[in-house]
Amino acid sequence: MWRPPERIKWQPDPGRWPSREEVAASRLFSPIEIGPLTLEQRTWVPAMVPWRATEDGFVTPEVLEWYERFARGRPGAMVVEATGIRDIPSGPLLRIGDDRFIPGLTELVETVRRASGGHTRLFIQIIDFLAIRRRPAPEKFFQRFLEITDRHREIIGAQDWPEERIRGHLSDLSDEDLERVLTPRELESLRQGYRERVTDTHLPHISDLPQVLPDLFAQAARRAKEAGFDGVELHYAHAYTMASFLSRLNDREDGYGGPRENRVRLPLEVFRRVREVVGDDFVVGCRYLSEDCVEGGNTVEDSAYFGAAFARAGFDFLSLSRGGRFEDAKQPKVGEAAYPYTGPSGYECMPQYVSDERGPFGRNVPPAEAIHRAVREAGFATPVVVTGGIHGFRQAEDILEAGKADIIGMARQSLADPDWFRKVRLGRGAEVRVCEYTNYCEALDQKHVPVTCKLWDRVEMDEPGIRKTPDGKRRLTPPAWEPGEDGAPETAEGAVEREAADV
Ligand SMILES: Cc1cc2nc3c(=O)[nH]c(=O)nc-3n(C[C@H](O)[C@H](O)[C@H](O)COP(=O)(O)O)c2cc1C
Ligand code: SF4
Repeated sequence: MWRPPERIKWQPDPGRWPSREEVAASRLFSPIEIGPLTLEQRTWVPAMVPWRATEDGFVTPEVLEWYERFARGRPGAMVVEATGIRDIPSGPLLRIGDDRFIPGLTELVETVRRASGGHTRLFIQIIDFLAIRRRPAPEKFFQRFLEITDRHREIIGAQDWPEERIRGHLSDLSDEDLERVLTPRELESLRQGYRERVTDTHLPHISDLPQVLPDLFAQAARRAKEAGFDGVELHYAHAYTMASFLSRLNDREDGYGGPRENRVRLPLEVFRRVREVVGDDFVVGCRYLSEDCVEGGNTVEDSAYFGAAFARAGFDFLSLSRGGRFEDAKQPKVGEAAYPYTGPSGYECMPQYVSDERGPFGRNVPPAEAIHRAVREAGFATPVVVTGGIHGFRQAEDILEAGKADIIGMARQSLADPDWFRKVRLGRGAEVRVCEYTNYCEALDQKHVPVTCKLWDRVEMDEPGIRKTPDGKRRLTPPAWEPGEDGAPETAEGAVEREAADV
């Protein structure tokens, strides 16, 4: 992963943990309305892909166990990982592109309801993404993938050469010569692997995106509602289709690119169609970027404009992430695909402890504040969720008290300790396993292997009945936390009853 050149090492600092009385009087643990429903507390576990679905996108026992473990911590809301809206092979990523996925997702909803005692609201993030190929070996690229054009013939002066000879010639050229002969796009396909863009409107399936996406998202949302979720989070962030429509880099000329009003058009059309299909009694929000964090991409001014537009359209919440774009991704190895969290924008998305003078904690707060302000100035109370390096109670409470955001997202901190919410609520914050922001988990994500946390994946390995990775080296969920002073063993139901009496 890319890291800022300053290489300043930061230590997480959760600060003083609150007493139960302080918690009871806090904003973080106070309710908030979000569209038609109420969250019991302003805590939020954002989407995290743990790579536990089947190759064809179904919920597995490992998926159930993963979300059950988070649900036991009883956050205010939890968002199930990015789940594909199309019925196409996507590797072990959850899918919701057909009704056959509904039973598994229903079981997931029931598992979370049971484990949280019905206290955690459950949303699912629904995503569309375009094709991306692995970086080819240069021989293969020149022999098979590159389409030989008149431009190549002209530049190398090979009008009459047979194609074979041109291919051979190109594969012998130096990097410098290749930069002259190949188009920037061809060079990118050679060096990074081929990647579709929303601006490839010469391809009919890309040109048609505005016609097909609203209904694909809407049908996925309908399935989420049928499965019993409380709502959907439309994935308008990072390197994926909808974020690319919103981006300043989108110069489509069909009314869906160029100025901001055009770039926000498809995201609004998708929302309207989703709303039409699921009705007003189902939460529909989105996750989008406070800043693209790449050259020529969206700035916070763009995102403030989008925030007001989304609020006006009737989105129930706005969850802000940042960066995570393909444009500055590191060159992958031959045979691997580019990963959007490897460049500076990836750093902004999941900031690591090796950082610059600003540090990794709360980098998304200033832009979130600006977006929050723009939404309020436009006359809307739409809740804004901020995420990025937040791990302490005081840090979260300060953001809420200052009115910079309404809900606090903690991704890696929840992964490090899904019981953060219960421990803090019970005045036992000192027992929190604090995330070190080393990004061990993110490296696993990058390899598309089961995500775990280094703080717990090798402890108590002889615990009976635990699931492990196929090589048997890592456990897939953290050990249970025993909260009862009375020594009562933790069961989801038992814990819930005790706490209901407690708080
Ligand atoms: C393993 C892993 C998987 C992630 N998967 C998703 C995802 O599916 N959708 C999404 O919007 N963000 C995803 N993220 C980003 C997080 O939701 C979050 O925005 C980011 O980690 C920064 O927040 P944090 O500092 O609280 O971890 C993922 C992060 C990690 C570490
Ligand atoms: S592996 Fe654990 S401690 Fe390290 S960044 Fe991920 S969640 Fe935090």
